[in-house]
Amino acid sequence: MNVLVIGSGGREHALCWKLRQSRRLDRLWCAPGNAGIAEVADCAPIDIADPAAVIAFCDANDVGLVVIGPEGPLVAGLADQLVAESIMVFGPGEAAARLEGSKAFTKSLCDRAGIPTAGYARFDAVAEAHAYIDGSPLPIVVKADGLAAGKGVVIAESRDEARDAAARLLSQPGSAIVIEDFLSGEEASFFAICDGEHAVAFGSAQDHKRVGEGDTGPNTGGMGAYSPAPVMTDAMTDRTMREIIEPTVRMMAADGMPFRGILFAGLMIGADGPKLIEYNVRFGDPECQVLMARLESDLLEILYATVSGQLDTVKPIWRDAAALAVVMAANGYPGTPDTGSTIDGIQAAQATGATVFHAGTARGDDGKLVAAGGRVLAVTAIGDSVTKARAAAYAGVDAIDWPGGFCRRDIGWRAIEREQA
Ligand code: AMP
Ligand code: GLY
Repeated sequence: MNVLVIGSGGREHALCWKLRQSRRLDRLWCAPGNAGIAEVADCAPIDIADPAAVIAFCDANDVGLVVIGPEGPLVAGLADQLVAESIMVFGPGEAAARLEGSKAFTKSLCDRAGIPTAGYARFDAVAEAHAYIDGSPLPIVVKADGLAAGKGVVIAESRDEARDAAARLLSQPGSAIVIEDFLSGEEASFFAICDGEHAVAFGSAQDHKRVGEGDTGPNTGGMGAYSPAPVMTDAMTDRTMREIIEPTVRMMAADGMPFRGILFAGLMIGADGPKLIEYNVRFGDPECQVLMARLESDLLEILYATVSGQLDTVKPIWRDAAALAVVMAANGYPGTPDTGSTIDGIQAAQATGATVFHAGTARGDDGKLVAAGGRVLAVTAIGDSVTKARAAAYAGVDAIDWPGGFCRRDIGWRAIEREQA
């Protein structure tokens, strides 16, 4: 089968890398791709914001399956347009993508389906938001309602901070915010693959969202991850499927917007079990990199079975190992990153046994690899324990010669503390 992956990040590199290993794969394209993806797929220079261009490419190249990586095209309805042309696509349509595109939509679904989540209220006027903040306990969480690339959330320790965040996030005309109770516990990323009616658990991971060591500094898209998440025991996975994922899939189907694709639940695991922080309608980045490193099964078979009504045959098999990814970002990230710096040592890193997934990379005029984005590489390795996977991943990182970039040195700290306890 010919497959087209949409996207250009480390997540899409990991998907292409894994699809490339499929015995069902014929040709593989990625649009637009990046310098690392070009080593496992043909990069197609299509404008992914133009559905007609994507459809024309699929028709011309006999594409049997389109896999949409990022949330942008999903929320914009690319999947619907492809389905309307009878093109098989892995990823939800616009209506179901609101699970990620609107926090208020997801919160109201949780209310109706009895899904455990933080208490909340939605506002589009500053005065009302301020009055609510003044009457609420601290800390309190203020979020932009729409997509914000992980940067639209403020966990306020004081009412002034919360009031400022509400005013700032509401300053755009037509904007709305959600104000939530603060949840305490341990976070986990949990994945379920869905065909619109049913869901199958598809692994777990833990991400490191803050830019600085010790989980300090501003939020990012994710500075590193490992899989599985030790808090996601079999019992916790069963509860999450029963209390969160299955009611969501049922309610979405009942409401006429069946969810097809990968549902990514951001969870807070507290004393009384799992609570939903948020949904994403795609694989996580860098969570996807560690999931693909551990997935033993044929990814293409799983994705195709899901979109062709055979989810009941899907039983993903995972390596009995831990995987860990360290993100290397360009200096300046998560602010404006410095791009254009030369990156050396990728081959030396691969020679240590690590896999280097590319996110923001490109080839300069001289053919050299250069930084072309904020998050640039995800150096990924597996091991018998998170401790061993971490050592292997940092051996890869240390082989990379890139003065224009940085990484956190403490990825996996929570799981490693547990392993060493
Ligand atoms: P979100 O974009 O909703 O995933 O939020 C980004 C991050 O903010 C999450 O990964 C959590 O670390 C934190 N967060 C969001 N909502 C809450 C909450 N209600 N309680 C505690 N932490 C939260
Ligand atoms: N790493 C978090 C995300 O992909 O949203």
